[in-house]
Amino acid sequence: MSQFDRHAIDQVFAAADSMVPFANRQRVTRVLEGAILGNMFFEPSTRTRVSFGCAWNLLGGEVRETAEIKTSAIAKGESFYDTARVLSGYSDVIVMRHQIEGSVEEFASASRVPVINGGDGSNEHPSQALLDLYTIRKEVSDRGKGVDNLRIALIGDLRYGRAVHSLCKLLTLYDNVHFTLVSPPELSLGDEYIEEMRGAGHEVVESSDLQAGISHADILYVTRTQEERFPTQEEAERYKGLFRLNQSVYTEYCEPNTVIMHPLPRDSRGNANELDNDLNENPNLAIFRQTDNGVLIRMALFSLILDVADKVEDTARDVSWYTAKRF
Ligand code: CP
Repeated sequence: MSQFDRHAIDQVFAAADSMVPFANRQRVTRVLEGAILGNMFFEPSTRTRVSFGCAWNLLGGEVRETAEIKTSAIAKGESFYDTARVLSGYSDVIVMRHQIEGSVEEFASASRVPVINGGDGSNEHPSQALLDLYTIRKEVSDRGKGVDNLRIALIGDLRYGRAVHSLCKLLTLYDNVHFTLVSPPELSLGDEYIEEMRGAGHEVVESSDLQAGISHADILYVTRTQEERFPTQEEAERYKGLFRLNQSVYTEYCEPNTVIMHPLPRDSRGNANELDNDLNENPNLAIFRQTDNGVLIRMALFSLILDVADKVEDTARDVSWYTAKRF
């Protein structure tokens, strides 16, 4: 995420805006015809893997992918260096997710083509943060506000939540953000992030009280206990279900029109349920607007990386089938 400044973010968001007719299936383009995406996921994923693949396809390119580590030669001991050298011979861009922190950076240093981080362990998830910020900007703008002076409550597992880490770095680039960090003390956000946020002049309040933490926020960003990052399942179970947002908590403690976000997946099992299904019809629940926006952001990233953002319309035409409108 440290590669981004506000100018770069604005470029991505402008490109994302221009992708709406294509993500909406009103127009099709062949701008990436002949190009191949290596969609290399060595850790489980639904939305990041599929939306990166869809984004590439919507620009006219082909996708080759790995969806689990056991179907790749990494399971036989092949190094990131060798894997990157091989796969970059087959692909024009690679998206990679892996459970080890820093793995994507190591892979990228050996790759001959651009590599996008689709999530490396508990470190970072930058494309998620970009789509989250894009969503935040739209949601608060609809409510007459901007990202500067935002009040955001980040709730849950802030220690292992890589989407939170990347989002905090991005928001730090804006002015006068008020962060409320709601977590058990053991799952608090790392000091390095907090120091960076405070160093940039933002107010950061830490709390383990959900009701107080959500009461003066424009955005609630709820997260799942990242059980796959804990040393033992038993330890993860201790933290599940500690903070549960549902409609009655929302009605009692939140300001009207507070936006509810979550990077997803939410854990809907009874012992966790950090974001209750009874909020599904709440118009302030933005979680599926986030996932839709993910396609726009990922199309924008590809078009900028391959320098075709201003060529998308050259091969574009209207579609002839009926499709549901998304944006
Ligand atoms: N938000 C996110 O990364 O979801 P997936 O794990 O399904 O990709």
